[in-house]
Amino acid sequence: MKHYSIAIDGPAGAGKSTMAKRLAQALGYVYVDTGAIYRTVGYHMNLMGIGPKDADGINRLIGDVNLDITYDAQGTQHMILNGADVSDEIRTPEMSMIASTISAHKVVRDFLLDTQRDLAKAYNVVMDGRDIGTVVLPDADLKIYLTAAPEVRAQRRIAQYREQGQKVDERKILAEIIQRDEQDMNRPIAPLRRAKDAVLLDTSYLNVEETIARLLEIAAQRLG
Ligand code: DC
Repeated sequence: MKHYSIAIDGPAGAGKSTMAKRLAQALGYVYVDTGAIYRTVGYHMNLMGIGPKDADGINRLIGDVNLDITYDAQGTQHMILNGADVSDEIRTPEMSMIASTISAHKVVRDFLLDTQRDLAKAYNVVMDGRDIGTVVLPDADLKIYLTAAPEVRAQRRIAQYREQGQKVDERKILAEIIQRDEQDMNRPIAPLRRAKDAVLLDTSYLNVEETIARLLEIAAQRLG
């Protein structure tokens, strides 16, 4: 049976996860958050005392990472690492940076590729990440490249962290967003790029409702 896939790529804080979740709900698809998968690998390495640049350590321990990706009744994705739900623990600024650094290793990307492709084979998906339209699902039925100015993205992240009750240093969040863009766009393997056939959507001046309306319009045109 043919499964449909929508790839949403873009830099941190562009609104990918909010939009992908809403789009998946509207279409009855499964929302796959691939950043959470990289975060979980980073979390495991950090727990084991392995730094995100330590290629030898990562090579040695990657085989111990046993990942389960589950979905609850609300369609929320949970990351289960070696039997424990770490979905909340992976959502800190520290884990964002660790995930970005660790995701540059080929061994990590190779390890996660089939996991992501298998989900798209099993379900209709809206998958968000950095290399979904370019590497993971090059034949996706619809590709979106979602972006916004760094200052706007930083403000959105700050609001998100505050909502979760985390203390935030505003200048540090902006600096981290810029550093993460730089790392994610300039790594040699599967860098963040707009796929040639991706629809570009800049959300700097769009609110959530305006963005989702635009995305639904694009999806209706493309998927029929
Ligand atoms: O989307 P996010 O902020 O949760 O992603 C965390 C990091 O994971 C991001 O900075 C880079 C990496 N990542 C990646 O390399 N490829 C993906 N498809 C998704 C995330």
